[in-house]
Amino acid sequence: MPKPIPGPISEPVPGPEIVVLTGAGISAESGLGTFRDLGGVWTKVRLEAVATPQAFAADPARVQAFYNARRRQAQGAQPNAAHHALARMGRALGPRLLLVTQNVDDLHARAGSQPLHMHGSLFRAVCTACGARHDQRVDLDAATACPACGAAALRPDVVWFGEMPQGLDAIYGALAQCRVFAAIGTSGVVYPAAGFAQEAVAAGARAVEINLEATGNPAFREHHLGPATETVPLWVERTLAARA
Ligand code: OAD
Repeated sequence: MPKPIPGPISEPVPGPEIVVLTGAGISAESGLGTFRDLGGVWTKVRLEAVATPQAFAADPARVQAFYNARRRQAQGAQPNAAHHALARMGRALGPRLLLVTQNVDDLHARAGSQPLHMHGSLFRAVCTACGARHDQRVDLDAATACPACGAAALRPDVVWFGEMPQGLDAIYGALAQCRVFAAIGTSGVVYPAAGFAQEAVAAGARAVEINLEATGNPAFREHHLGPATETVPLWVERTLAARA
């Protein structure tokens, strides 16, 4: 029997211990409206009219105007204490934290985090002709030319209903190995994000809900209820202290 030839010993790459999912509630105290609360975005505009590929095909100008307004609103907002606390957690944990956001604003990034934007970003555009992605800081319209191919075919790089969220392989990989999954400021009604808590719990993690009010999802065994600017900094400090 030939002896196995020893190969180089490689250290296993540590995966995320903590996965945090954020939703519109984390940006509420920065002045950005949530979707489903009283006065939320979907109480004023029908999502079918602005947040589906069909809506864009039927009335691109309306859809572009909706996202142009949201981009401008986000530019006028500032990250709050909850965004800053998660940035602090990211600096302390490095790759042991995966921050996933459903939000298309850039408040996590402006606080110093590099979140995985599973529903895309208002601050990127994608060309429907060549597929190139670009930074997008100003209004888009039907005449805006793609810097890569020149076609007037740009759309906001956001995920619409009926489209595939971004980064799902990385997210499910992290959910399978994390110890803690925390959902912050999300109503938990939009899949697949709404299923992340169950997924993490099935793989052995503890699921924590940090929200204005409990959503009733039985996967969450720990609840921190109240405004995110109060609950998130406390949870971050406690979580980091427990690891020290
Ligand atoms: P929702 O509007 O559905 O839920 C916001 C949640 O935040 C609610 O549970 C509120 O109770 C909570 N909340 C509000 N203010 C808060 C505060 N100050 N502190 C803590 N929690 C607070 O928003 P999302 O769950 O993010 O998708 O919505 C999920 C997805 O639905 C969005 O990404 C968007 C939307 O349609 C697409 O457009 C594809």
